[in-house]
Amino acid sequence: MDLGISGKVVLITGGGGALGTAMASIFAAEGAKIAVVDVNAENAATVAATLTDGGAAACAIGADITDKAQIDQAFSQAEQRLGPIDILVNNAGFSRDSYLTKMDEADWDLVHYTVLKGTFHCCRAALPGMMERRFGRIVNISSMSYLGNAGQTNYSSAKAGLIGMTNALAREAGRFNITVNAIAPGLIVTPRLRARKDFDVLEQRSNATTPMPRLGLPEDCPSSINQPLQ
Ligand SMILES: NC(=O)c1ccc[n+]([C@@H]2O[C@H](COP(=O)([O-])OP(=O)(O)OC[C@H]3O[C@@H](n4cnc5c(N)ncnc54)[C@H](O)[C@@H]3O)[C@@H](O)[C@H]2O)c1
Repeated sequence: MDLGISGKVVLITGGGGALGTAMASIFAAEGAKIAVVDVNAENAATVAATLTDGGAAACAIGADITDKAQIDQAFSQAEQRLGPIDILVNNAGFSRDSYLTKMDEADWDLVHYTVLKGTFHCCRAALPGMMERRFGRIVNISSMSYLGNAGQTNYSSAKAGLIGMTNALAREAGRFNITVNAIAPGLIVTPRLRARKDFDVLEQRSNATTPMPRLGLPEDCPSSINQPLQ
């Protein structure tokens, strides 16, 4: 499929993780250049090496999205190595599940800080150049949990907040020919998910409420962003 993104530069946060890896490989297959950014520098390097082995232009950058200085540096490194960022995928994130009455305050803060403040730092790093060039695509990875799951008050509220942020930023950036969209995947089978003790319960709950009664696969997520760019 030709999405019209050949030669575009994509920066994916959390690119060393399951969904990040799947999205990176789809972008590579489309001829895009990929900056794989992850707090786990080793995983980022492995993903970038696989992409370059396959003939794509890619680089790995270890950076924590909650740290503005690291993110500013990551964007300038990516631009030096691959060129100006055309597409930003805000994918880094995780859950720290617990009922609210038992939740550590630190887990509330960490999930919110990563999902919302991390996305804020990355958008702030990407937008000035996109606005100047009058082109940009920002994709925020939310979650169906934004509708509310017991045990996920921190994650559900952060992912719902991310959708609000997406809608607000889309209205700010649209006049610069920059689109801002969110994807809210359902449960996706990843090694981390499979390792959970409650995997069977989660799978049953997901199958009961999902129109297509099977768990999602990492490669289902990139197919949601298979929208040709104008
Ligand atoms: N797997 C699912 O079922 C599912 C469903 C809906 C949404 N999501 C969302 O998709 C995204 C990716 O999830 P995944 O399943 O691939 O998880 P994953 O754990 O495999 O990947 C997440 C990656 O983000 C990185 N990361 C975490 N904190 C970071 C930080 N502060 N700075 C930079 N990198 C950081 C991790 O090192 C990891 O490589 C997350 O935002 C998650 O909330 C996942």
